[in-house]
Amino acid sequence: MQSSAQVQSVSQSDTLASFWMPFTANRQFKAQPRLLATAKGMHYTAVDGRSILDATAGLWCVNAGHCRESIATAIAQQAQVLDYAPTFQMGHPAPFELADRLVQMLPGDLNRVFFANSGSEAVDTALKIALAYHQARGEAARTRLIGRERGYHGVGFGGISVGGISGNRKQFGSLLPGVDHLPHTHDLAQNAFTRGVPTWGAHLADDLERLVKLHDPSTIAAVIVEPVAGSTGVLIPPQGYLQRLRSICDRYGILLIFDEVITGFGRLGTAFAADYFGVIPDLMTVAKGLTNGAVPMGAVFARQGVHDAFMQGPEPSIELCHGYTYSGHPLACAAAMATLDIYATEGLFEQAQSISQYWEDAVHTLQGLPGIIDIRNIGLVAAIELAPWPDQPGKRAYDIFVQCFEAGLLIRVTGDIIALSPPLIIQRGQIDRMIDVLRQVLQSRGDAVD
Ligand SMILES: Cc1ncc(COP(=O)(O)O)c(C=O)c1O
Repeated sequence: MQSSAQVQSVSQSDTLASFWMPFTANRQFKAQPRLLATAKGMHYTAVDGRSILDATAGLWCVNAGHCRESIATAIAQQAQVLDYAPTFQMGHPAPFELADRLVQMLPGDLNRVFFANSGSEAVDTALKIALAYHQARGEAARTRLIGRERGYHGVGFGGISVGGISGNRKQFGSLLPGVDHLPHTHDLAQNAFTRGVPTWGAHLADDLERLVKLHDPSTIAAVIVEPVAGSTGVLIPPQGYLQRLRSICDRYGILLIFDEVITGFGRLGTAFAADYFGVIPDLMTVAKGLTNGAVPMGAVFARQGVHDAFMQGPEPSIELCHGYTYSGHPLACAAAMATLDIYATEGLFEQAQSISQYWEDAVHTLQGLPGIIDIRNIGLVAAIELAPWPDQPGKRAYDIFVQCFEAGLLIRVTGDIIALSPPLIIQRGQIDRMIDVLRQVLQSRGDAVD
C-alpha cells in the first residue's frame, strides 16, 4: 500500500505537462485528470482516495487481479540475483524455463517461443517470421500480408499496416507495401443482441478467396486476425468463420496468425482463443496477461514446422536476424512464471468459464436502456454499443466513461462502444455492482431512447 503522503504528492504534482500521454486527448485530460494511486485485487484507489472497481483489468492485462504478492515477490527476488542478462549468443535459465512452461499450455504443435516486450513487438515479430519463413522455404515471392478491417495489432509499422483502424494509420504515411484487408465481421442488422458466438457471417471468411484470386497465392505470406477483435469493440467471430479462414489458408499455403494479445490467458474461459474455437494458427502473438501486466512482455508462439524451416542450411548462422535487448528479460520471466502459477493454482481460466453465464445474463439486463443498440459477450468480455450522437462520434460513450469513473467504476470505451473485461477473479457481487453503476449512469443521463 502507498502511504497517504505518497498519494498526496501525486495529487499535488504541480504540472502534468511533461508526460506526452499515449492514445489520449492530452489537453482534455490535463484539464481534468484522472489519476490512480494504488491497486489491489479488483480495485484501484484514485489519488483522492476513492475506490474504483476495475471492469477492464487495467487495459485487458491484469487477469489475476492487481498487486498479487507472489508476482511482486518473484520480481523483487529476481532483481536481486540477476537484474539483466543478454539473450543474444548468451543466455540465462529463466526464458528457457518459461518457454517450456508455456509450450505445455499451448494447443497442437505450437511449441516454439520467441520473446518480445509488448503486443506490438510480438505482432511485428510474427509478421517478420512469416515473411522469413517463406523465404527460407524458397518461396520468397510470398510477401503480402492480409489483415482485417477494424483489426488492432498494436502500433509498430507492421501492426498498423495490417491493422484496420484508419485513425491509427492516417498520420503515418504509406505504411508497409503489399498489405490487403479482409472485411470485418460486425453487422448489427444480423447479429444485434447475440449472446455468445453469432450464427450469421461465416461466409465473410470467403473474401480471402477473392484476395487469393486477386493477388495469386504465390504472393501471399500470411493472414493475421484477432480471434475476437478487442480494441475496436469486442467483435465476436461468427460460428465457423475462423475454421473457414484456417482451411483457406491451408489450401493455399498461407500462414494463419492469431493475435491473442487480448484473448490469451483465460479471457474466454480457456487458455487461448485457439482452444475456445478449436482452430490452431501457425503463429500466435501474446502479451498483457502473460505477466498479469506487472512487467512488459510479449511473445510469439510458432508451430514446430514454422520454426524448423529456419533450422536448415549451413551452420553456424543466425537463423532469424531479429530480437530485442530485452527478449526474455529476467524480471519479465519471473513475473510470467509467478503469473502462470496463479492461473494454475487458482484455476482462473476455469473460474472465468464458470462465471461467464452469470456475466452474460447480467450484461444483457441492460438491454432497453437509452441509446443501447447492441450488447454482446463471450467468455469474460462484453460490449455495450451505443448509438452515436449525430456529428459527435465517441462523445456519448466518453461522457459515460467519465461519469462511471466518478461513480467508482473503470470501464473502457472505444468509439461509442463500452468494452468490459474484468480481472478473471471477479465475483458475482462485483458483477452486480458493475452493472448497477452502468445502469444508474445510463438512466441518469436522460438521453432519448434511440
Ligand atoms: C490484439 C492486440 N494486439 C496487439 C496489441 C498491442 O499491444 P501493446 O500495447 O502491448 O503493444 C494490443 C493492445 O491492446 C491488442 O489488443
